[in-house]
Amino acid sequence: MNCCIVGLQWGDEGKGKIVDILAEHSDIVVRYSGGANAGHTVVVGDSRFALHILPSGAIRPNTVCVIASAVVVDPDVLIKGIQTLAQKNITLTKRLFISENAHIVLDYHKKEDQLREEALGKNKLGTTIRGIGPCYADKVGRSYTVRMGDLRDLEKLKARLQTIVDYKNKIFAALYKAEPISADEIFEKCKSYADKLLPFTIDTTEFLHKAIAGGKSILFEGAQGTLLDLDHGTFPFVTSSNSSALGMPAGCGVPAKMVDKLIGVAKAYTTRVGAGPFPTEQDNEIGQYIRDKGQEYGTTTGRPRRCGWFDAVAVSYAVTIGAIDCIALMHLDTLTGLKEIKIATAYEINGKQTSFFPANTTRLSKAECIYETVSGWEEDITTVSNFDDLPLNAQNYICRIEENTGKPITIIGVGPERNQTIFR
Ligand code: IMP
Repeated sequence: MNCCIVGLQWGDEGKGKIVDILAEHSDIVVRYSGGANAGHTVVVGDSRFALHILPSGAIRPNTVCVIASAVVVDPDVLIKGIQTLAQKNITLTKRLFISENAHIVLDYHKKEDQLREEALGKNKLGTTIRGIGPCYADKVGRSYTVRMGDLRDLEKLKARLQTIVDYKNKIFAALYKAEPISADEIFEKCKSYADKLLPFTIDTTEFLHKAIAGGKSILFEGAQGTLLDLDHGTFPFVTSSNSSALGMPAGCGVPAKMVDKLIGVAKAYTTRVGAGPFPTEQDNEIGQYIRDKGQEYGTTTGRPRRCGWFDAVAVSYAVTIGAIDCIALMHLDTLTGLKEIKIATAYEINGKQTSFFPANTTRLSKAECIYETVSGWEEDITTVSNFDDLPLNAQNYICRIEENTGKPITIIGVGPERNQTIFR
């Protein structure tokens, strides 16, 4: 069976934990979009793994991991990830495959990301400064880009890098009065990337199709979330890839109809990092309660996340455009102790009520939420393993979300550990 895991909100939903759990029943885990802007946290016993570009299946010793073509690969982060796992005796030799067509994030992308954000001042997007936007922009522009397969011909790459760096330096000087970067230094780094990463680099599309034909089961792992999708999210406050389920076929060259099940991951509340409209945001003591209790600080950047109530309008939209079959609801334990909990069930925009999420920032920023309020619970739920053993108010909260999103909640997270998970 092939399954796709996708975030239904603005990222950080807890996809890493779900992928890690489901990877036990999968032969292959595939990252299909984004880059080192992601931060997937997996907790196993005393060890906490923060994976940025490696698929979350990486920590299971027998799972094959694929980084597909639409991922932008930051080689420094990837090599560090491989080394960190090696220190814990987890080797990726012969089970990590990187697409030869994946584009590479180089130092000038990160520099460009930072310079652009600084220049935008209060209008900045709040990116992760991981060079994601500039790398995808070069990919779409086609002329100034380096892909993993280009590391195979270092002589050609050297000349190419000189052309690219000359071009970038003109932009850096003219727009930002910034110091030039050195093509030689980047080339030296590329030589070491070639050494360390070429052994893993293959045609992943061929590999995946052969695996599917051979009856292997594949788990496709989305990064970020549907509302950060470049085309279907809250543009321009989005990432630069198709981070919804719609990005999966294009991202790895496997048609959507080869996926048997789509699991959407949502938090029991909503968070967002960076700028952009957030209708259910609670910029008050409730938001702070959620932030403290849920440790809502970015895995990649450490930034405090903006926190708010569960938004059934937004999640229903993500469910609809992603053809999601069922939902994994994470971090339910974070809400313990709140007297009342709210769910946004519709918006009012310019005096009109709607329950279809407008992925248009101008309209969305005018949305006033219409809430349903339910009672909270006080009991500790972090050791509960059966739905029926949850406090009745927690059961009711889950049922209300199911009713408002129209999809069953089949997995519930009650803590960071693998075993703090309820399956229904
Ligand atoms: P970028 O992907 O670094 O260009 O950032 C664009 C927007 O996406 C910013 O608001 C980031 O905070 C957000 N973003 C990118 N990756 C993640 C993620 O993994 N989790 C949550 N937000 C993210």
